[in-house]
Amino acid sequence: MTRVYIEDISAHSGEEIEVAGWLYNQRGSGKLRFPIVRDGTGIVQGIASLADIGEEKFNLLKEMTQECSLIIRGKVVADDRAPGGFEMHINDLEKVGDSVDYPITKKDHGTPFLMDNRHLWLRSKKQNAVLRIRHEIISAIRDFFNNRGFINFDAPIFTPNAAEGTSTLFETEYFDTTAYLTQSGQLYAEAGAMALGKVYTFGPTFRAEKSKTRRHLTEFWMIEPEVAYMDLAGDMDLAEDLTVAIVERLLEKRRTELDTLERDISQLEAIKKPFPRIHYDEAADILIKYAQENPDEEEAKFERGEDFGGRHETILTSNFDRPVMVTHFPTAIKAFYMKRDETNPDRVLGFDMIAPEGYGEIIGGSQREDDYDKLKARVEEHKLPLDAFKWYLDLRKYGSVPHAGFGMGLERTITWMCGIKHVRETIPFPRMMYRINP
Ligand code: 4AD
Ligand code: MG
Repeated sequence: MTRVYIEDISAHSGEEIEVAGWLYNQRGSGKLRFPIVRDGTGIVQGIASLADIGEEKFNLLKEMTQECSLIIRGKVVADDRAPGGFEMHINDLEKVGDSVDYPITKKDHGTPFLMDNRHLWLRSKKQNAVLRIRHEIISAIRDFFNNRGFINFDAPIFTPNAAEGTSTLFETEYFDTTAYLTQSGQLYAEAGAMALGKVYTFGPTFRAEKSKTRRHLTEFWMIEPEVAYMDLAGDMDLAEDLTVAIVERLLEKRRTELDTLERDISQLEAIKKPFPRIHYDEAADILIKYAQENPDEEEAKFERGEDFGGRHETILTSNFDRPVMVTHFPTAIKAFYMKRDETNPDRVLGFDMIAPEGYGEIIGGSQREDDYDKLKARVEEHKLPLDAFKWYLDLRKYGSVPHAGFGMGLERTITWMCGIKHVRETIPFPRMMYRINP
């Protein structure tokens, strides 16, 4: 008998097949049972009658509990009322493994409990949909860069220095010295771009963020393209194209999962080029005006020169149906490597892409300082150890060229596209300030 994955069941209508999975749920009466079976690829409802499978198997089924593993055999029958459009008329089944007192039941458990049982929670319909979307987004990102001739360039995880400020570094013993878990692959990607032209890193990054917001993980995945001879405008075009390509892929291939998550599809369909581009000073005007009109809103308070908080990002995007790119942030609040605007050295040639619907910053990018002396001065200003940056400065000594890149936070992007509330559900085992288990 052919073993079939539930996602492929429609191709086997009328055939006798076998499905191997777990019992999701069942109901029934004296002579008829309706087990719902999941196999990771989908869910199918079966019908088993006492007459068809005999008393022994009928009772075996009746005794099976939630998440008990089993194999069912029978005929695939089209039925419009069934979830997925097909059901299985069971004529045989066997039990594979017990599941006694499965902790996650139909009742409302609350997220802390579910997170403690993350290893089991992953089996639920919603988590399954989110992780399938994660997979599709990763695949869309890789295809996007690979099709444009980018070379995948893996940056190290153990690093001798900070890339994104010293306050969020995870320190670790490294034989007789100290190493840090990487905050970003960018500095290495810059070496890669000088060697290979255009590269992207795609790997885990770490931030000892003491923030408990719904947007922060301590371990998250970042995609970082870096391109030689690219300027800020080219960088923003690339970020925009990537974002549109991801949305298009999901709309094409993951409708079922988006429906499971009850995602408002029209919000995703609106993600088209061009995205609005606003200079920081213009953004500051909008925020200052908003704060004046809403003096009671504590979180909306804003002064020119400051970085944006979550509330500010939401205010800035509230008038748009697509992501907004804010450019030319103040030099003082951005990383040491960003190139300054020649017409105004207090502003950098950098941008943040802020997602709509209150999802906040998903991409940060910039043109890099390519002048040796200016970069060295910036390293010193930021009180970074010069010896650890010698190799990085070398890139400006031997054939320096204008170059740019950005970093897209994978989990924030998934959170937005899934339309879910918290970043913690977009990675199999989230790491946060207060969670390192399971
Ligand atoms: O803006 P960030 O800090 O930029 C960089 O690390 C640059 N080196 C990127 C580059 O130019 N190559 O981080 C980039 C993105 C953010 O926009 C956000 O989406 C995500 O990484 N991110 C986080 N995601 C989850 N949890 C955190 N704690 C995050 N910190 C940043
Ligand atoms: Mg940023």
